[in-house]
Amino acid sequence: MDSRISARSLAAALGGWRGSGPVYEALADAIRLLCLDNRLVPHTALPAERELAAALGLSRTTVAAAYASLRDTAHIRSIRGSGSVTLPLARRDPGIRPGQADAIDLQQASPPAWPGLAGVFAEVAARATTLVARAGYDVVGQRELREAVARRYRERGLPTRAEEVLVTPGAQSAIHLLAAVLTARADRVLLETPTYPHAADAFRRAGGRLVSVPVTTRDGWDLDRAEQAFARTLPTLAYLMPTFQNPTGRTMTPVEAEAIARAADRAGTILIADETTAELAIDGPPADPFAAVPGVIRIGSLGKTVWGGLRVGWIRAPEETIARLAAARPVHDLGTPEFEQAVAVELLARMTEIVAQRSAHLRAGRDALTAALRAALPAWRVPEVAGGVSLWVGLDAPLSAPLVMAARARGLYLSAGARFAVEGGHDRHLRVPFTAPVDDLERAAAILAESWSVAASTGGDGRFERLEAVV
Ligand SMILES: Cc1ncc(COP(=O)(O)O)c(C=O)c1O
Repeated sequence: MDSRISARSLAAALGGWRGSGPVYEALADAIRLLCLDNRLVPHTALPAERELAAALGLSRTTVAAAYASLRDTAHIRSIRGSGSVTLPLARRDPGIRPGQADAIDLQQASPPAWPGLAGVFAEVAARATTLVARAGYDVVGQRELREAVARRYRERGLPTRAEEVLVTPGAQSAIHLLAAVLTARADRVLLETPTYPHAADAFRRAGGRLVSVPVTTRDGWDLDRAEQAFARTLPTLAYLMPTFQNPTGRTMTPVEAEAIARAADRAGTILIADETTAELAIDGPPADPFAAVPGVIRIGSLGKTVWGGLRVGWIRAPEETIARLAAARPVHDLGTPEFEQAVAVELLARMTEIVAQRSAHLRAGRDALTAALRAALPAWRVPEVAGGVSLWVGLDAPLSAPLVMAARARGLYLSAGARFAVEGGHDRHLRVPFTAPVDDLERAAAILAESWSVAASTGGDGRFERLEAVV
């Protein structure tokens, strides 16, 4: 279905797009970035030039020039009398070499596979005959895996039975299922901002109206805003990442967790804790912020701890919620692949070893990236993080989008801060994952320094590139 975006919404989505180069090009670049991030989906009707000019306080000629530039790069098509629509990102721009051997892709914050994984695949393959004797089609998941997941929660001090676990093909699928089953159209859903963008997209797609609570690398969760948001909007769900929040890397303090749990309880809100990144501790595992909070629905995954390609995740919830999820599931999918589940059972038995390897890998990346960014860009705020996958870096000007465009033109792919926003903003931030090899991270810091001088002086000279998932 084709959609349209109003001038006001487009102005809000554009955020801080201006640099000091030609205004029409900066505007065109910012719209290209929205297309790239999928915040402007293909076939979206753009506002009329006159309306956008009014919303942005620009002349109509400037907007007309920006649209002309977008037509030239085939980002939009304009038809006389019926306005301009965005086009699918089917081609590559000249000047950017997407397949270039030395490109660095930091759009995804995903560590490489745990080195022992191929061996576990081989072990499981050796008993494939027993595996294929199973029925398949199982919407709750293999009993052995649900037991293994429940055991891991018990080891963390959370009494859990296998009946309280449902296995999914990754955490994203878990989020989508929860959004579909636990929210009705127009329900409020509370999220952190910045947040994990595909969760926000899933709740939006389910018809939820999103309410956001700021979290910062320095001050953590904004408890005043959280309390107001719970009390005023009475959200049905709150989707939070209490441990190594993606992208800020923050972990809730006991005071924060208690205040949020109390506000949620008063508002009758179900808390969902996404713990996909929770096991990625670098400086020792933190205490579970919601350990003492009853009824929290938890999402887990092996995507970051073992490998994104494994596609095994789960939901821990009260048994009656699991039953509702299982009943609603067939419209989404008919289960999780048996082979991957059998691999997951073996992996859960080796988590101590796996988590130690992850911690060492992430420590090397975090330390190298932190040092390189601080040396190359001393005016930026590079936070201290104790775990997770990324640094949520504070820029000294709201130019995240032009910076990302300039870096793309130099073979470094990142997502602009606004991609992680719930309702606009974050143009002064950039998520830089430290999951890549140290050499790449050091090179990325050098490219960022060069790109920053371009972005700060011209508003960006890059063009768009390809659309990637932001994990
Ligand atoms: C917070 C968070 N939740 C969920 C996911 C998706 O995980 P999975 O690969 O298990 O679907 C990610 C991946 O980046 C994530 O960062």
